[in-house]
Amino acid sequence: MAAARILLTQRWPEAVEAALWRDYDTTILEHTLSVPEWRAALQEYDAICPCVTDRFVAELGETGPVKTRLLANYGVGYNHINLDAARQLGLTVTNTPGVLTDATADLAMTLLLMVARRAGEGERQLRAGQWRGWYPTHLMGAQVSGATLGIIGLGRIGLAMAHKAHYGFGMSILYHNRRELNDSAVARMGARFCANVDDLLQAADFVAIHTPGGQDTRHLFDARRFAAMRPHAYLINTSRGDVVDENALIAALDAGQIAGAALDVYEQEPRVPAALLERENVVLLPHLGSATLSTRTAMGMKVKANLDAFFSGQPVPDRVL
Ligand code: DGY
Repeated sequence: MAAARILLTQRWPEAVEAALWRDYDTTILEHTLSVPEWRAALQEYDAICPCVTDRFVAELGETGPVKTRLLANYGVGYNHINLDAARQLGLTVTNTPGVLTDATADLAMTLLLMVARRAGEGERQLRAGQWRGWYPTHLMGAQVSGATLGIIGLGRIGLAMAHKAHYGFGMSILYHNRRELNDSAVARMGARFCANVDDLLQAADFVAIHTPGGQDTRHLFDARRFAAMRPHAYLINTSRGDVVDENALIAALDAGQIAGAALDVYEQEPRVPAALLERENVVLLPHLGSATLSTRTAMGMKVKANLDAFFSGQPVPDRVL
């Protein structure tokens, strides 16, 4: 039987590409799919393997009969895929949960430490030749050890961050979820549930967002939420950019309603508002949450496991639709 034709929109780690070349008729595009390219690809490939940048928009649902049967997403978040449109075309959709938990939680801790300890600011100063030596008031930051971390969304990644923050840095943990978790790991940490987001915001020194993206969480952090945060508190976001209203964030920073922010994701990636770029109390990373070689390889192998199951008629392990 001829190998299934699959399309990758970007280069993937070498080991994954090699495994895909071996088992599939693989094409690698090396750019983000436009809507017309999506339409053409849907007629040509058995499976399409998009990334977060390849938006499968509502209008694609009107494409009519297509050859593609599977969208095997490279990533855990799938808010860039309009599931109603995918359903209209009869597509199966899969993602890559589980394997990027620690890498993303590690990066959330990196952001937290960087913004608290003014690491970006210090490095910029040193590289610019502006460091004039040690003095007692130089770039004083906020103490991380023993502070209170509020986590919005205690799923896999939120829980991994809570673990690192609590056991590594002695932080107290608050969390907000749709419902309180009955989980022994959560109980052992003494993590306190806040049914109301504002209760969490009023008590946290650091607030980390770990909710999925999408309509339900769009602009969850708006002007009202920033007003509820403590003036010395910092916001950390590694989930999806549109969970935060960037204009409201900029206004809150301008007004001193919060002390700073550390972001890995943005509303209009790769565009980052100038008002954030020019601020010293904001740490900005380019969507690096899962960017370790082992994690990105594991994500690719998960996609392959989904492809393998699908094309051998087995249930796909990571079905979202
Ligand atoms: C994820 O896996 O969701 C990452 O943000 C990349 O899409």
